Amino acid sequence: MDLLRKKSVDDVIHQNDETPESQEHGSLKKNLSALDLIGFGIGIVIGTGIFTLTGLQAKENAGPGVTISFLIAGAVALLAALCYAELASAVPTAGSSYTYSYTTIGEIFAWIIAWDLILEFALGAAVVARGWSGYVAGVFDLPAKWFAEEGSVVNVGAIFIVFVLGWVALRGIRESAWVTNGLVVIKVLVCVFVIAVGAFYVNTGNLVPFIPESQPPSGDGGASSSLHAPLWQFLSGVEPATFGLTGIFVAAAVVFFAYSGFEAVANLGEETKRPERDMPLGLLGTLGICTALYVGVCIVLTGMVHYSDLSEGDAVADVFDQVGLEWAGILIGIAAVAGLTSVILVDLVAMPRIGFALARDGLLPEAFRRIHPTWGTPVLMTSLTVVAVALLAGLVPISVLAEMVSIGTLFAFVVVAIAVIVLRRTQPDMKRPFRTPWVPILPIATVASCVGLMASLKVDTWLRFLVWLALGFVVYFAYGYRHSRLNKSPEGDPA
Ligand code: ALA
Repeated sequence: MDLLRKKSVDDVIHQNDETPESQEHGSLKKNLSALDLIGFGIGIVIGTGIFTLTGLQAKENAGPGVTISFLIAGAVALLAALCYAELASAVPTAGSSYTYSYTTIGEIFAWIIAWDLILEFALGAAVVARGWSGYVAGVFDLPAKWFAEEGSVVNVGAIFIVFVLGWVALRGIRESAWVTNGLVVIKVLVCVFVIAVGAFYVNTGNLVPFIPESQPPSGDGGASSSLHAPLWQFLSGVEPATFGLTGIFVAAAVVFFAYSGFEAVANLGEETKRPERDMPLGLLGTLGICTALYVGVCIVLTGMVHYSDLSEGDAVADVFDQVGLEWAGILIGIAAVAGLTSVILVDLVAMPRIGFALARDGLLPEAFRRIHPTWGTPVLMTSLTVVAVALLAGLVPISVLAEMVSIGTLFAFVVVAIAVIVLRRTQPDMKRPFRTPWVPILPIATVASCVGLMASLKVDTWLRFLVWLALGFVVYFAYGYRHSRLNKSPEGDPA
């Protein structure tokens, strides 16, 4: 069996001509600056992570220390970004980590990453849809039971927005550039507003103790509570606990979600004027600005009200209600709804493209790449995505979904960081417009920190993730391996 067979770069460039996007965009021009990369990155990265997960994680795991969690997650994201950018820039074509892996480390890894990306995008869209619903509930005073996290059984708001935007994605309607840029500005302004105005309402008493004392988790303490313990606690037999330092790391692993999406910046290597200089600036700038905004928002939020009083649905707007600035709460709510809408749409448009790429390479059945004659979108994959995302968004709590996205993203970065080290040895002459600094120290630190965060995720999250990966292997060995284009074409360059 040749699990490490690779696609040639020429093959990738040729195949990319067939995608729906290639006809729209033609060949890519090298005209992006570091500033363009930062604007694009911020637009994709800021979303439910800061708007919703902050409140939830402060309340459940970290208290005001959620600020430290965001700093830790930001540092890990930065390490991962520096590794990712080398791989992304080495394959001279637009694409995702799936494509880069396919040409560099081989088919089985490419498949695992793609399978992982499906999880990341589908669940990511579901997380943001639930976040959207929580803010809509806040603005229009809708019942939390149907729209927010508190006691919700079926989140009808999340299901509604997924179907509406799913229809938009199916019809191939995208946001125009000015709407996208406008929403980036709005999201940044909301964060700046929250920090600048909220700072006047901070009661420092709420920030003490900054790291609440460790305490036993609520619940029955039986089997279900071991499933809810972080993996490292479960394996080491340490008594499960929330808050304290453990809580900070658990929250860091969950809020890693807030940084997900920055890979999209690394994917723009080919369109960047001077990747060697602009790519690290773009990545550092995106992650630096997002981290600064996140940290500011976290301090203000946990300073304005006691962390135990934060809302689980629309914390950033609700704290302003709680201090008597209802008008500010409503403005923030409306802006959050607009910003989150675009994040869901981007996810719903991006995910079916992964299915398209997999089917094009023969790893999924041909039907998944069928393009609608007038809408120009992959219909089957988009429809399946929308139904699956709607079900998940409607039924699964936001923290469970976000943890799954975090574990999937962290796992992909582990693979990417290892690939950087391996490829420096196996393919030293490969063209690398951007080179990760301090190899192998930096990639090793990336692997260690990603694994460290993954170990802070709950045992049941790990079990769900392993089931998803196992399912991926079943699909690959039952279908993909035999139908892969590389099985038939001589272009593959088996390692
Ligand atoms: N990072 C994005 C968010 O926080 C996905 O919503």
